[in-house]
Amino acid sequence: MKKLIAGNWKMNGGLAANEALLRALLAQIGTPAAEVAVCAPAPYLAQLQSLLNGSPIAWGSQDVSAHEQGAYTGEISVAMLHDFGCRYAIVGHSERRQYHGETDAVVAAKAQRALAGGVTPIVCVGETLAEREAGQTEAVVKRQLAAVIHAVAHCTSEIVVAYEPVWAIGTGKTATPEQAQQVHAVLRAQLAAATTHPERVRILYGGSMNAANAASLLAQPDIDGGLIGGASLKAPDFLQIVAAAR
Ligand code: G3P
Repeated sequence: MKKLIAGNWKMNGGLAANEALLRALLAQIGTPAAEVAVCAPAPYLAQLQSLLNGSPIAWGSQDVSAHEQGAYTGEISVAMLHDFGCRYAIVGHSERRQYHGETDAVVAAKAQRALAGGVTPIVCVGETLAEREAGQTEAVVKRQLAAVIHAVAHCTSEIVVAYEPVWAIGTGKTATPEQAQQVHAVLRAQLAAATTHPERVRILYGGSMNAANAASLLAQPDIDGGLIGGASLKAPDFLQIVAAAR
């Protein structure tokens, strides 16, 4: 499968800034070797659909409700994401686990709901610095992934997993290629043991990936792409990361 480079804009942007960024990307992206996507705040999905439709750049959301529809104030259903042409939905980002108390079970339910609605979930897993320093990295990410595997075991559609060490997110303290590869290999083995087509699952790295370190990370055998935060808001940087994904 092609590598995937997905931008996670987080709670950033605006109509004018989004248009400027997307037009800069569209003007220079050409025909990338990798798949490319951007995940924007929900109010901008119509703008992304309008500007990106028919382009090499797919789009998605940064969350999705675990529920189909109904009395869930403020939530956004997968059907609504589908209405705006979303291909992806990030689920279980560490910032939602931290600030919104999203548990492994909630994340698994969101991933299952996204798949049921025809949207590919980008399921985030990752350990905190304290967990890494306590030697719990593998146990944490395997626990987080196991919940999702259990929920989607019988689904043949694609899921994407993103390993995002919490201590590397937004800090500039990127995991070394060796550190990232080590965890990606653990996740790959877990998927191989539990799913019928593990080769269909792409495992992205996220956590201060940038134009300078992308090539060394993406050269690792079990790193299938990147989930990019800060660097996705800067067209030259994001384009350099895309170019490094061959
Ligand atoms: O979801 C991607 C994000 O968590 C990584 O952020 O700014 O470290 O690239 P950043």
